[in-house]
Amino acid sequence: MILAIETSCDETAAAVTKGNRVLSSVISSQVKLHSKYGGVVPEVAARAHIESMILVIKEALSRAKVKLGGIREIAVVNGPGLLPSLLIGVQTAKSLSFALQKPLIPIHHIEGHVYANWIGKTSKSIPFPALCLVVSGGHTELLLMRGHMRFKKIGATQDDAAGEAFDKVANLLGLGYPGGPMVSKFAEKGDRKAFDFPRPMFDSENFDFSFSGLKTAVMLEVRAFKKKTPEFVRNICASFEQAAVDVLVFKTSEAIKKFKVKSVLLAGGVAANKHLRRALSKELSCKFPRVKYFQPDLKYCVDNAAMIGVAAGYKRSIKKQKQFFEIEVEENEEL
Ligand code: KG4
Ligand code: ZN
Repeated sequence: MILAIETSCDETAAAVTKGNRVLSSVISSQVKLHSKYGGVVPEVAARAHIESMILVIKEALSRAKVKLGGIREIAVVNGPGLLPSLLIGVQTAKSLSFALQKPLIPIHHIEGHVYANWIGKTSKSIPFPALCLVVSGGHTELLLMRGHMRFKKIGATQDDAAGEAFDKVANLLGLGYPGGPMVSKFAEKGDRKAFDFPRPMFDSENFDFSFSGLKTAVMLEVRAFKKKTPEFVRNICASFEQAAVDVLVFKTSEAIKKFKVKSVLLAGGVAANKHLRRALSKELSCKFPRVKYFQPDLKYCVDNAAMIGVAAGYKRSIKKQKQFFEIEVEENEEL
């Protein structure tokens, strides 16, 4: 059994996992705390993590019906993320490891997001090579996986991440924070063709992305149209979402062709976007019927510790020889 801890941004999360099974997953969200600032304030986040960390761990152990003594290893996200936030989770994990004399397993935040796809499945249910489309608030990447824990980055955003673009568009429209779910909600009832927004890097010969130009195009429309009527807001959201989803789906398709993968995995906070889930699944079943498509359950798309515990199980079995007792925070760690 693994006790997993995640505090890289504004969720204090702990979980108990056993293999790919989740025995408990507890998340204390700080959304209300940060919404008045329109984004996450790192020091405020860290203070809130300190207040809830122990309570969240206790709750995770109690829901899993295990005592600390029954835990074999402690997994923790040590990067990337907000430094003050990461420090709280990592220091807690180190203290527990020292007091209980149990090894630590450091997990990269993106490894966790990708492994959300294995929750509840057998380890062989996802065939390799696999292509992962990682879309979160801080990352937009295409990763090639040739085996468990073997990642190769084949494309990434050159500026804003997809989730960041959703949040900024929401901000322009005054929809609050976090913006992704709000933009998505308004988009459901809007006209996806109302505005002809650019599809950045559609014609580039690589697998990179760019979302800042798209965000600027939205900003220019919003500034030009003084009255933000509900219909205008819905149409902006729908047209923006369509442009972002088109680029993500197109680049994923191109990468499938080039790397001849057997499966595609969606991951990250934006993986909760219903339009993206539908569009990717439709594109794959029409164009690549032999490629298996996976997307995490909605509750495991946003930051959580269950995905960290499941990833840690694989990291431990692959890096058997390595026992971690001393780990450091890696604020900008590359996968
Ligand atoms: O993975 P995550 O929880 O945190 C990071 O690792 O960054 O992702 C958070 C991001 C935010 O930008 C949020 O607006 C976006 O995911 N997001 C969504 C949706 N739900 C969350 N974006 C679009 N549609 C959604 N339904
Ligand atoms: Zn995340």
